[in-house]
Amino acid sequence: MMLVLALVLLLQLACLALGLPQNGAFYINGNSNGNGHGNGEYYNGVKLHIEAQEERLFAYRGENVTLSCRYRYEPPANGSRKVRVKWSKLNMDFTKESDVMVAIGLRHRSFGEFKERVYLQQAQERDVSLVITDVRLEDYGKYKCEVIDGLEDESAIVELELRGVVFPYQPHHGRYQLNFHDAKQACEGQDAMIASFEQLFQAWEEGLDWCNAGWLGDGSVQYPITAPRGPCGGKDNSAGVRNYGQRHKHLHRYDVFCFASTLKGQVYFRRHPLKYNYEEAGRACQDDGGEIAKVGQLYAAWKFLKFDRCEAGWVADGSVRYSVVFPRPKCGPPEPGVRTFGFPRKEMKKFGVYCFKMN
Ligand SMILES: *[C@@H]1O[C@H](CO)[C@@H](O)[C@H](O)[C@H]1NC(C)=O
Ligand SMILES: *[C@@H]1O[C@H](CO)[C@@H](O)[C@H](O)[C@H]1NC(C)=O
Repeated sequence: MMLVLALVLLLQLACLALGLPQNGAFYINGNSNGNGHGNGEYYNGVKLHIEAQEERLFAYRGENVTLSCRYRYEPPANGSRKVRVKWSKLNMDFTKESDVMVAIGLRHRSFGEFKERVYLQQAQERDVSLVITDVRLEDYGKYKCEVIDGLEDESAIVELELRGVVFPYQPHHGRYQLNFHDAKQACEGQDAMIASFEQLFQAWEEGLDWCNAGWLGDGSVQYPITAPRGPCGGKDNSAGVRNYGQRHKHLHRYDVFCFASTLKGQVYFRRHPLKYNYEEAGRACQDDGGEIAKVGQLYAAWKFLKFDRCEAGWVADGSVRYSVVFPRPKCGPPEPGVRTFGFPRKEMKKFGVYCFKMN
């Protein structure tokens, strides 16, 4: 035991001496500070502290958000020292981090999906808050704000959530057909993203009840039950989000829970006295300068724009749906919701169409 401890210590010391990354943390070589003081000595007794926004931040898709983060020295240090700031994003199952932005002084670099879309706010000295412009669905998640000054390396986590709506999704070939990778693609194809557990949980709290199991972004398979009943995991079980645990991402097949957020456009209904088949429906929207609405867009319109239309219309995946905000007789079940007639044959000339147009 002692031997192991000693070895670990030795290893850490060796890392420190060599300036190698420890525990995967970002580490900076040599003396990057502009004031000419070396590492260590100057810092005797001065501790770096970092403070980040503690509550979760809620954003709408397309808006600009600021993830707050600042640092200070204890006791207060003089002058402006050059620090390295690194923002990274944790993936959905927290096994990986990806770089968002790295900055030293005025130099900075952003990466991947965040390229040219993020900057440091720097409203005040030692403010290293990150501004994300034009927030996208996949920006949702936990971010790590890290400040590195010589040997000191402090970090804090900020959580960004999106306002949105969770919907269960089944493709045209029926129930339980999607492996994890298909599931992700199915959501993306509908202007949505595979939902996280937190998003599904929140939807459950708001009343979502669905008796088919679906993939979530962390690779688990779950389903939300608000009214326990026999065929849905048993009457005797309490309400809750039922969890099948992690499933095999290639071999196992389920439905999926998708997450759609606010729209930068509008959804509307078009009809024709002779009705449309699927192909005519798509053309009708194009003729109008739009496109046939995706399932996620219909849900977003239902949730955020109170879109209410009690008429069956084609949507992009070949399903026929309608959106009810104010339930009334002859408009399906007594709860509000987006209803589906499933996937009729595409030649059926029997429906209107839901179109989407950018603002
Ligand atoms: C977001 O920030 C960018 C760049 O700073 C700006 O051009 C844009 O108008 C902002 N968008 C909104 C919705 O405020
Ligand atoms: C920092 O500044 C204060 C007052 O401005 C001074 O009293 C103190 O000696 C300075 N400390 C260092 C480490 O330079």
